[in-house]
Amino acid sequence: MSTEHDPAARLKTVLDVAKAMISERDLDSLLQLILREATQVVDADRGSLFLVDPRTGELWAKIAQGLAVGHEIRVPPGVGLAGHVAATCQPLNLPDAYADSRFNRDVDRDTGYHTRSLLCVPMTNMRGESVGVIQVLNKRSGVFDAADADLLMALAGQAGVAIENALLHVEIQQLFEGFVKGAVMAIESRDPTTAGHSERVARLTLGLCDAVERHGLGRWKGLKFSAEQRMEIRYAALLHDFGKVGVRERVLVKANKLYPEQMQLIEQRFAYAKKANQVESLHRQLTLMRMGAPVADLQAEEASLVEHERRLDRWLEIIHESNKPTVLPGGYFHGLTQVHQEQILDVSGRLQPLLTAEEVALLSIPKGTLSADERAEIESHVSHTWRFLNEIPWTRNLQRVPEIAYGHHEKLNGNGYPRGLHDSEIKVEPRMMAIADIYDALTASDRPYKKAVPHDLALQILDDEAQRQHLDSELLEVFISERVAQAVAEADSPVPRAKMT
Ligand SMILES: [Fe+2]
Ligand SMILES: [Fe+2]
Repeated sequence: MSTEHDPAARLKTVLDVAKAMISERDLDSLLQLILREATQVVDADRGSLFLVDPRTGELWAKIAQGLAVGHEIRVPPGVGLAGHVAATCQPLNLPDAYADSRFNRDVDRDTGYHTRSLLCVPMTNMRGESVGVIQVLNKRSGVFDAADADLLMALAGQAGVAIENALLHVEIQQLFEGFVKGAVMAIESRDPTTAGHSERVARLTLGLCDAVERHGLGRWKGLKFSAEQRMEIRYAALLHDFGKVGVRERVLVKANKLYPEQMQLIEQRFAYAKKANQVESLHRQLTLMRMGAPVADLQAEEASLVEHERRLDRWLEIIHESNKPTVLPGGYFHGLTQVHQEQILDVSGRLQPLLTAEEVALLSIPKGTLSADERAEIESHVSHTWRFLNEIPWTRNLQRVPEIAYGHHEKLNGNGYPRGLHDSEIKVEPRMMAIADIYDALTASDRPYKKAVPHDLALQILDDEAQRQHLDSELLEVFISERVAQAVAEADSPVPRAKMT
């Protein structure tokens, strides 16, 4: 039954619309809803909705029936009918729009529409300030009356508050996005070789969410992620390594087993040993000459000097080789022990090892470049992330961000860190993030101390990790079969980062 002539029913419509508006947080959907209901409640043929741009005072409309999608109208402050209503906060009810000189006929001309009657009312916020106007055109029967104006004013009053809430919501989101961006920049500026890692991990993890929804396997079959859960996962992924700000930068970017100044010290010690030996040898040669020793003795001394220098050069070469972050053949470690046993007299005449026990220990690190202490320091980034994220008063729908990020280095067999959680204790989100994290760490472009691993090899390594109960094999299978990495790379850039098949 039409509510057109039933004031109680019309009022109920306005109240229902007000309720719907209050619960709508998405600005575009809210504007659509307001416009649809506004035209309906006064039985108008079409309408437009203008918002006041708080920076310029201009009115702008994206939502106008009959207007091409993407087309935007901008009206300077106070200009035209809508500008007048926004400026005065008073409604305008025109039975014949063309009779009013302020009416802008250009839109009619551009769209081929013919406006007859027009009702334009202000939308105000709680402070009574204008946030926009609703303009409805061509009452389907007759012209708009005072009751229509009252009704539209009532609806516009509610709409103004709802719009302000939605705008506030958008602003809070933008503010938080900006903060997260700043946080990510702070992490990545400490180690430029990891630039883009957090963003890529977020995209890969969300890509895996989509893939699991499409093609979940085993216990993940039928899994769905709401928009809010996705946002939670995204923030957790973007901030998963934030705790790296609590790790010393030199440890974070350590390229070799020794820091440059440690290597420099060894090189200087070797140079000193060479020079000291030269001086001693020349001294001995001089004595031999003074004694009139046979030429053969002099030649032997010279040969011994050359041999000593060669030995030092060879040892220094072993040290340089050992310094690289590779898994070393055992022979190198043996060579290091030999160097450690060699002693030299320092400038104050004390005997010192050519290579200290600490240097031998560092150069003998069997995997990577980090000592046990340094590895523990790097691993502490997860706990720093947890502490940092717990300081943020997350809204109800984002409560699990810290927990998701906290689990990104846990392994199903309990060998992960920092808590050593087991399979049943690790939720699906950190499982997905762990796959994304390792994939990106492997395939990220070349670092000075680490070559980028090609896509296929990265998948093999991930598979190996799953076999060893480090990663979830069902999620990994979906990651591979649904070509998550390829899809993300294609969406990211027309040129894939790593060669993918
Ligand atoms: Fe991490
Ligand atoms: Fe990471």
